[in-house]
Amino acid sequence: MRVPDKNAKTSINRREFVKSGLVAAGAASLTTGLFSNSSRAATQEGPEEKSGRLTRGDASILRFLAAAEILETDLWQQYNELGGIQDSEVPGGSGSAPYTAALAVLDSDMAQYIHDNTEDELTHEVFINAYLASKGADTINLDAFRTLPSSKATGAQQIGRLTNLMQLTVDTSWWTRYRSSTGNPDFGDSFPQAIPSLASGQHPAIPRTDADLAPNDHIQAIANTAGFHFGTIEQGGTSLYPSVAQRVTNPEVLRVVLSIGPTEAMHFQTWSDKAGNAPPLTDPTDPTLVFPDLNSPPFGGEQFQTNLIMPEPTIFLSRKLPTCSIVRPTNTSGAATGVLKFLTAMGLFIGQSPAFFQLMSDLAEDADGAKRGGA
Ligand SMILES: [Fe+2]
Ligand SMILES: [Fe+2]
Repeated sequence: MRVPDKNAKTSINRREFVKSGLVAAGAASLTTGLFSNSSRAATQEGPEEKSGRLTRGDASILRFLAAAEILETDLWQQYNELGGIQDSEVPGGSGSAPYTAALAVLDSDMAQYIHDNTEDELTHEVFINAYLASKGADTINLDAFRTLPSSKATGAQQIGRLTNLMQLTVDTSWWTRYRSSTGNPDFGDSFPQAIPSLASGQHPAIPRTDADLAPNDHIQAIANTAGFHFGTIEQGGTSLYPSVAQRVTNPEVLRVVLSIGPTEAMHFQTWSDKAGNAPPLTDPTDPTLVFPDLNSPPFGGEQFQTNLIMPEPTIFLSRKLPTCSIVRPTNTSGAATGVLKFLTAMGLFIGQSPAFFQLMSDLAEDADGAKRGGA
């Protein structure tokens, strides 16, 4: 149970921490970049609260979504530079032929799909920020945190990144979660991993240097890791939007959330299909990383068979109601904080500064504090 006064105080304290943390890091001039209105960084009151055009809750939800989309764009951009199509729609990088070829083992159109997913995220980020600005609300800019290293493999741009794709711990339980006809994470159920060894340890999803381009099974293991990570990321977005939509107040903001969210599901559906084509192998460079044959015992069947890519109907809201084919989870309580935890646990932010984590948890807490019909 949230105590509004206490939480407001905590949030203000965190904003102060973010601000002072940046000052301490010698980046005082960057503070204003975090929010278009620097006073926002130290108070709960942004101009939208006064304009009446967006409720504070709606603005907080949109700001968290904008931050999530900026992070998504950053990671997809890294994939596109090495394994996608570099063009005027998604510029940057020059491609890695061995990595692109290994990805193409999952589907010959992988480069196109990576490009299109990257472009989609970029438009989500830009649109949500522009929408916030059009309502006089503060926008999100994470440029101060573009500090993580790029891959040194040929084809990657050498620029600062927000996310780390080289030490991932990939939760692949979505594979079995969407095949279960009796379990739902919103009922407290958990689900087995499709690729148990990806869910522990740290694994690169892009080549770190050109040394990662051989032997063949090693670069294929990296491409397989990416193939599952794509699904892991996009199922997260698929759940995030309906989860926060339940607490949106303004019908137009609801339209924004309901119109972007399902595109995350389109991405997830695509990646769910492609991951099943990842060839079974053991990484010769890291023999603990094993991609099993999901169509043969002890795998196979409804839980693992690779052509079962549609959501299996399962329990929803109440066990007394009929099962239903649904996105899961969609519980709204703590949804943004949950997504932040999930992204952090996968190692996506390894190397990020304390100020980054403070800002992100502040944004997530504000979003989770939003109430439908709130002021
Ligand atoms: Fe997105
Ligand atoms: Fe996405």
